[in-house]
Amino acid sequence: MPLDLAWLRSQLGARRIDWHPVIGSTMTEAARLAALGCESGTIVCADAQTAGQGRLGRKWHSEPDSGLYISIVLRHALSAQTLPVATLALGLATAEAILKTTDIACDLRWPNDVLIGSKKCAGILTQLEGSAMIAGIGVNVNHAQFPKELRELATSLRIASGRVHSREKILVELVASIHAFCNLLETEGREPILRMFSAASSFVHGRRVRVDLGDSILSGTTAGLNDAGFLLLEGDQGERNVIIAGGVRPCS
Ligand code: BTN
Repeated sequence: MPLDLAWLRSQLGARRIDWHPVIGSTMTEAARLAALGCESGTIVCADAQTAGQGRLGRKWHSEPDSGLYISIVLRHALSAQTLPVATLALGLATAEAILKTTDIACDLRWPNDVLIGSKKCAGILTQLEGSAMIAGIGVNVNHAQFPKELRELATSLRIASGRVHSREKILVELVASIHAFCNLLETEGREPILRMFSAASSFVHGRRVRVDLGDSILSGTTAGLNDAGFLLLEGDQGERNVIIAGGVRPCS
């Protein structure tokens, strides 16, 4: 079923909401609107994406009518250096919205994965367009199954709970949580977000992981986040690595 836009508009106040039955990527469209000067809080959402973007150049599986695929333009007073922590704030917002609307408690895997158990149910992508931040969020809501290559990695709220969930209710809660966590970051700085992310994630401290850096793999034990929001990894020889970008996977 397509999103109930009339209800969404009644809940989300006076803001621009552009809904597309099919789009390449909501990120591209939101960046275009941001460059044209659209207001903070503008939402671009779609029922399906043909070129959904994931982190590290990956694709985001965006099948029709099952997920939430949204990009929201945010004009907070955040510096480029704050972007890594903004990604963490958006993960917290997504987990909070899922918990409030479905009762499903999620884990967070640095920097941008929202997990149920070991499988991903949502992902975050952030990019800057001039002074605006584009927050891209994909939530696997009502997918009944995934293509074979994703089955071990991905899940949906429906698969995890055995129930179909309202994408509209999750979106309304998500937008409220995004504004709350981004306002907190803007007013209180990075520390509260870093503290909350560390408390909410089983990956930040003492977890044996492999980190895919693109051209090499690092193994070690996670040792917290630094002030910039990067992951600290203690290598097997005791050396400290600061992970700025990479794919974190648990060592089995
Ligand atoms: C990731 O986990 O790799 C990030 C996934 C982000 C997916 C969302 S879906 C809405 C928005 N549009 C995109 O093309 N990507 C983000």
